[in-house]
Amino acid sequence: MRIGVLTSGGDCPGLNAVIRSVVHRAVVDHGDEVIGFRDGWKGLLECDYLKLDLDAVSGILARGGTILGSSRVQPSHLRDGVERAKGHVEELGLDAIIPIGGEGTLKAARLMSDSGLPVVGVPKTIDNDIAVTDVTFGFDTAVGVATEALDRLKTTAESHQRVLVVEVMGRHTGWIALHSGMAAGAHAIVVPERPFDIEELAQRVGERFEAGKRFAIVVAAEGAKPRPGTMEFDEGGKDIYGHERFAGIARQLSIELEERLGKEARPVILGHVQRGGTPTAYDRVLATRFGWHAVEAVHRGEFGHMTALRGTDIVMVPLAEAVETLKTVPEERYEEAECVL
Ligand code: F6P
Repeated sequence: MRIGVLTSGGDCPGLNAVIRSVVHRAVVDHGDEVIGFRDGWKGLLECDYLKLDLDAVSGILARGGTILGSSRVQPSHLRDGVERAKGHVEELGLDAIIPIGGEGTLKAARLMSDSGLPVVGVPKTIDNDIAVTDVTFGFDTAVGVATEALDRLKTTAESHQRVLVVEVMGRHTGWIALHSGMAAGAHAIVVPERPFDIEELAQRVGERFEAGKRFAIVVAAEGAKPRPGTMEFDEGGKDIYGHERFAGIARQLSIELEERLGKEARPVILGHVQRGGTPTAYDRVLATRFGWHAVEAVHRGEFGHMTALRGTDIVMVPLAEAVETLKTVPEERYEEAECVL
């Protein structure tokens, strides 16, 4: 068989582990040929690819990013995108395509699959918000980076008796905020799923100082918003691909909290450091398993599906289901965290 692989959307620790695993399983165990498209769907649309053999994937398991490069370009962005991609698949004699990506990529994968292409998806995102899989690789690494940063920030916050508002990634969901906040013992967590009341938040942080504590750490998911009408808030806008370009929850919250509490407050934006660098062991293992199962699905002809983790098993789920809804933080999970804040 001839299989094409691509990585699309925001990069994520573990992408190289999937690519490596696909190549090992396909080339060594099945005698397939694998090619990798450069920079996501863009590579397929422009027929820009490289051969992936064992040499090409040697030494990449622990490397962050993606050796193939990524972009946010999708076939539907071009008028003739889907047709052009189909033409290239035919020209290259591909029997299957394995796109590795998040919500946007999986939507594109579904579109390509509906148009008749043999597609098997692999989900990835540090946000952990893809509904049909218990976990996505990249999340564990991001939570680890954020937790370490929060631990470090506590000592400087305490030295200066400050409130630090730490912004972590999470456009639509607060999984990174919830887990890193719990793991580091933050004092308040705000997530997109639960619009916050600035007065309540200020009261919670204020009570901490009244109780004699010298600092407070507030973790805010970048997509968190106040309850309508409770505070003036700049939501930001959209970038050229229609993705949120946030105006900065940490900056706005720190100004509000400083004014209300009369305590120095500073915003800290962790940003892309959460996505860079080497994946944790957990993410490497999950990514490797996804790659293996994607190749098996290709050989079974199980197209229009993607790999997913359910409990400890890897299963295949229809792409149509995968992109229906996002996995948001349930109220009970938030309550569990709130209890120990
Ligand atoms: O979806 C993954 C993610 O890292 C989000 O958490 C974040 O909002 C977004 O990507 C950032 O995207 P970009 O790299 O395009 O700024």
